[in-house]
Amino acid sequence: MSVEPMNVLTVLITGGTSGIGRATAQLYARRGAQVVVTGRDEARGQEVAAETGGRFIRADLASSQDVRRLAAEAGAVDVLVNNAGYWELNATAETSEEGFDAMVAVNFRAPFFLTAALAPRMAERGRGSIVNVSTMVAARGAAGMAAYGASKAALEALTRSWAAEFGPAGVRVNAVALGPSRTEVTAGMGDMLDTLAAASPLGRPNEPEEVARVIAYLAGDDARPVTGTVLAVDAGRVATL
Ligand SMILES: NC(=O)c1ccc[n+]([C@@H]2O[C@H](COP(=O)([O-])OP(=O)(O)OC[C@H]3O[C@@H](n4cnc5c(N)ncnc54)[C@H](OP(=O)(O)O)[C@@H]3O)[C@@H](O)[C@H]2O)c1
Repeated sequence: MSVEPMNVLTVLITGGTSGIGRATAQLYARRGAQVVVTGRDEARGQEVAAETGGRFIRADLASSQDVRRLAAEAGAVDVLVNNAGYWELNATAETSEEGFDAMVAVNFRAPFFLTAALAPRMAERGRGSIVNVSTMVAARGAAGMAAYGASKAALEALTRSWAAEFGPAGVRVNAVALGPSRTEVTAGMGDMLDTLAAASPLGRPNEPEEVARVIAYLAGDDARPVTGTVLAVDAGRVATL
C-alpha cells in the first residue's frame, strides 16, 4: 500500500531574524513546517535558519530589487507573514524624507510587491494564507507616530482589498494589530513598555510567542472562514480607549 506523503507547509516570514518574526519561525518549525526567513542581518538570519532547520534569504525590503529577488528565491509558499517593520518616532515637522520613505518602503511597498508576486501562485494552487503585522497605532492617533501609523494603516487597507481580490481563489488575507510587545526593538524602552502596557485591561505587554500563536491561528485552518479582518492583539487596549 502506498502512503501519501504528508503535506509540509512552506512559510515565508519577513523580519524573521528578530522578535515576533523569529518567534513565528520557531513556532512553525516546531509544528513541522518548512520555514523561510528573511531580513538584512546575515548572522541572525543564519542563526534562525539553524534553529528552525529552515532557509535564510538576505534581503533589504527597502530595495525594490531585493523584494523581487526575494520573491523569486522563495518560490511557492503556503503562508506569507508580512511581519518586517520599520519605525522612527518623530514629530511630523522633524520627520525626514529619508525616514518617511523607509517606513513607506518597508511597511507598505514591500508587502505590496511581495504579495503581488506570491499571492497569484497561491491562487493558482487554490490555497494559501497571508498575515500582515500591523499596530494599534494604525487605527488610533498617537503623537510622534504619524508616518508609521499611516504606513501600517495602508497595510490594513491592503488586507481588506486582497481578501476581496484573492478570496475567490481560496487565498485568505488577515492582519494582526499589535499593542506593546516585548521584542528586541522595545527592549530599549525598559520599564516604559510595562507602563504603556499597564494601560490595557489585561495590563501586560505581548510576548513574541503569544503573537506567533495568533498569527499561526489566523493563517491556519482553524480560521478557515476568516478573511479581510484585522485582529487586535493588544491586551484590550484599543477596545477600551
Ligand atoms: N514590538 C512592538 O511593541 C510592536 C508593536 C506594534 C507593532 N509591531 C510590529 O511588529 C512587527 C515586528 O516587530 P518586532 O517588535 O518583532 O521588531 P524587531 O525585533 O525589531 O524585528 C523587526 C524585523 O524587521 C526586519 N526589518 C526591519 N527593516 C528591514 C528592512 N529594511 N529590510 C528587511 N527586513 C527589515 C528586521 O530584520 P533585520 O534586522 O535582519 O533587517 C527584523 O527581523 C513590525 O512590523 C512592527 O511594526 C511591533
